[in-house]
Amino acid sequence: MKKKLAFLIFILIIVILSIFVYYRYRYQTESIFYSIFPIFSWISVDQPVLFNHLHHKEAVQLNCSFCHRYIERYRAAGIPNIELCRACHATDVMSKRPEALKVIDYVKANREIPWNRMYELPKFVVFPHWIHIQNKVNCSVCHGFTGVKERPIQMVDRNYMEWCMDCHQKRGASNDCYTCHSS
Ligand code: HEC
Ligand code: HEC
Ligand code: HEC
Ligand code: HEC
Ligand code: HEC
Repeated sequence: MKKKLAFLIFILIIVILSIFVYYRYRYQTESIFYSIFPIFSWISVDQPVLFNHLHHKEAVQLNCSFCHRYIERYRAAGIPNIELCRACHATDVMSKRPEALKVIDYVKANREIPWNRMYELPKFVVFPHWIHIQNKVNCSVCHGFTGVKERPIQMVDRNYMEWCMDCHQKRGASNDCYTCHSS
C-alpha cells in the first residue's frame, strides 16, 4: 500500500515538473519535440475549395507574389480575390478537376471564396512581411510546406513569440518589446 502511494506521488511530481518545463521552456521543448516527430508540425485545414499550391507553382510556374501581391511592400501578404481566379478559371479549359469546377461556380456567381485564415497573430502584434522579404527570409522558414502542398496545410510549430525572438537574436534584429508590440 505504501509503495503504491509513493509511486503515485512520484508520477504526480513528474507530471507537474513536465508541465512546468513545458511552459517555462516552451520554445526548447517544442523544437525538440517537432524535430523528433516532424509529422505533428503540420495539420490539414478544411477550406471551401481545396486550393492546390503545388499545381499553381509547378504546372503554371506562378510566383508567390503573383497572388500574394502586397508581400514585398506591405505588412500583409494579401489573399487573392476572385478576379484573379477568373483569369484562368472562368471556364473549365484550364482544369476539369472537381475542386477547380467549384471555383468556376464562384466566378460565375461573382462571389468571393470564403477562405479560412491559417496564420493570424493576435491584434497586439505587428508583423511586417516586407521587411522580412527584403532581408531575404524565405517564405518556407515561417510557412513550411503551406505554399507547396496539394492540400491546404498549416504549420503549427512556429510563429509564436519565443520563435520570432530566437531568429531576431541570431540575425541581429531588434528584440525590443516595442518592435513587435507597437501599433
Ligand atoms: C494562384 C495563386 C497563388 C499562388 C501562386 C500562391 N498562393 Fe498562397 N494562397 C492562395 C490562396 C487562394 C490562398 C487561400 C487558400 C488557402 O489558404 O488554402 C493561399 C494561402 C496561402 C497561405 C496561408 C494564408 C493564411 O494564413 O490563411 C500561405 C502561407 C501561402 N498561401 C503561401 C504561399 C507561398 C509561399 C507561395 C509561393 C510558393 C504561394 N502562396 C503562392 C493563392 C496562391
Ligand atoms: C495563371 C492561371 C491560373 C490562375 C490565375 C489560377 N489558376 Fe487554378 N489552376 C490553373 C491550372 C493550369 C490548373 C490545372 C492543373 C491541372 O489540372 O493539372 C489549376 C487548377 C486549379 C484547381 C484544381 C487543383 C486540384 O488538384 O484539384 C483549383 C482548386 C484551382 N486551380 C483554384 C484556383 C483559385 C482559387 C485561383 C484564384 C486564387 C486560381 N486557381 C488561379 C491555373 C490558374
Ligand atoms: C518571418 C516569418 C514569415 C515569412 C518569412 C513569411 N511570412 Fe507570411 N505570415 C507570417 C505571419 C506571422 C503571418 C500572420 C500575420 C498576421 O496575422 O498579421 C503571415 C501571414 C501570411 C498570409 C496570410 C494573409 C496575409 O495577408 O498576411 C499569407 C498569404 C502569407 N503570410 C504568405 C507569405 C508568403 C508568400 C511569403 C514569402 C514571400 C511569406 N508569407 C513569408 C510570417 C511570415
Ligand atoms: C528567420 C528570421 C526571422 C524570423 C523567424 C522573424 N523575423 Fe522579424 N526580422 C528579421 C530580420 C532579419 C529583420 C530586419 C532587421 C533590420 O533590418 O534591422 C526583422 C525585422 C522585424 C521587424 C521590424 C524591426 C524594425 O526594426 O523595425 C518586426 C516588427 C519583426 N521583424 C517582427 C517579427 C515577428 C512578430 C516575428 C514572428 C512572427 C518575426 N519577426 C520573425 C528576421 C526574422
Ligand atoms: C520579435 C517579436 C516580438 C518581440 C520583440 C516581443 N514580442 Fe511579445 N509577442 C510576440 C508574438 C508573435 C506574440 C503572440 C504569441 C502567440 O500568439 O502565441 C506575443 C505575445 C506577447 C504577450 C501575450 C502572451 C500570451 O501568452 O498571450 C505578452 C504579454 C508579450 N508578448 C510581452 C512582450 C514583452 C514584455 C516583450 C519585451 C521583452 C515582448 N513581448 C517582445 C512577438 C514579440
